[in-house]
Amino acid sequence: MEIRIDTRTLTPAGFGIEISGFDMSRLDNQSSQVLTQAFLDHGGLLVLRDQALENPNDLCQFTALFGELENNEKYDPRYLLPDYPEILRIGNTMENGQHNALFIRADPSPLLWHCDDSFRHPQPMGSCLYCVQAPPSGGETGFAGMAAAYEGLSETMKSRIDGLVTIHSYDHLNKLLRRRNPHRPPLSHAMKQEHPPVRRPLVACHPITQRKSLYLPLCHIESIEGMTATEGEALLEELQAHAIQERYTYFQQWRPGDLVLWDNRCTLHAPTPFDDESYTRLMYRLTVTGRQISAA
Ligand SMILES: [Fe+2]
Repeated sequence: MEIRIDTRTLTPAGFGIEISGFDMSRLDNQSSQVLTQAFLDHGGLLVLRDQALENPNDLCQFTALFGELENNEKYDPRYLLPDYPEILRIGNTMENGQHNALFIRADPSPLLWHCDDSFRHPQPMGSCLYCVQAPPSGGETGFAGMAAAYEGLSETMKSRIDGLVTIHSYDHLNKLLRRRNPHRPPLSHAMKQEHPPVRRPLVACHPITQRKSLYLPLCHIESIEGMTATEGEALLEELQAHAIQERYTYFQQWRPGDLVLWDNRCTLHAPTPFDDESYTRLMYRLTVTGRQISAA
C-alpha cells in the first residue's frame, strides 16, 4: 500500500521530525522503513500525533522497530500496565487511594537535561512516551539534538573536547537530586555496587549513523578525566549552555494521542513541571535496548 505522510522538521538545526498521516496500528514494512530512517536522519527524535491506542500491542510493535523492549523489572509492578510489563505508567493518577503510576515531580528551571541511565551499562538506547492524559499547560518535555549541537561548535572547541572521557555516576545524580529534595534517601550500598561509575566519551559516535554528538547528560557527570573539578564543571556548563539553545531544542506540548520516540545516544531531554494538584497527566513509557555509542 502506498503511504501518504507529511513531515515537519522541528528545529532550525534539523533536529527532530513530526510525521502525520500515519497510524501506528497499520504498521507494515514500508512504513516501518520510512519511520526508522526518518528517526535516524533527524538526530533521533520522532513525533507522531493523533494516535488512537486501541490495543497496547500496537505501541509495543511500533517501539520494537527501534530496539528490544525492556521489561521494567526495577519498577513497582503497580506502575505497569496490566498484562504489559513493557509499558510503565508515568503520571499522577491514583487507584484506590494509591498512585498507580510512577510520579516524579519535575523542578522548575534550571531544567534537568539528561539522557536516560547513562550511568548504566548497557545504556537503554531509547525511550518512547505515549500521552494518555495531559494538563492544559506545563508538563512539557524538552528535547535537545546533540549531533546538531556538536556540529555547531567552533573548530577550536571541537579539537579541545574530542577524545575527552567523562565519569558518569548514579551516586552523583542522586546527591544532586537530594540537594533539590532532602526527602530523597541516599543511594544504598547495594545500589552503589550495582551502579559503579562508568567512563563515557564526551564526544560520542552513533553506532548506526556514525554521526558525532555531544554526550552530555550534565547531571550524571561526576568529572572529566585529567581535569580539576572546577575546570571540568566550567567546560561542561559551557557546552550545555551551547547545546540547549533554541536552535537545537524542541518542547513537546503534550496532547492525548501524541507519541514521541527519542534516541538516548544523541539527544537530551528534560521534564517541565505542571499543576499536579489540579490536573492529571498520564503517559505510557517504553524503553528499548540497542547498540551502544563509542568514542568518536
Ligand atoms: Fe528521562
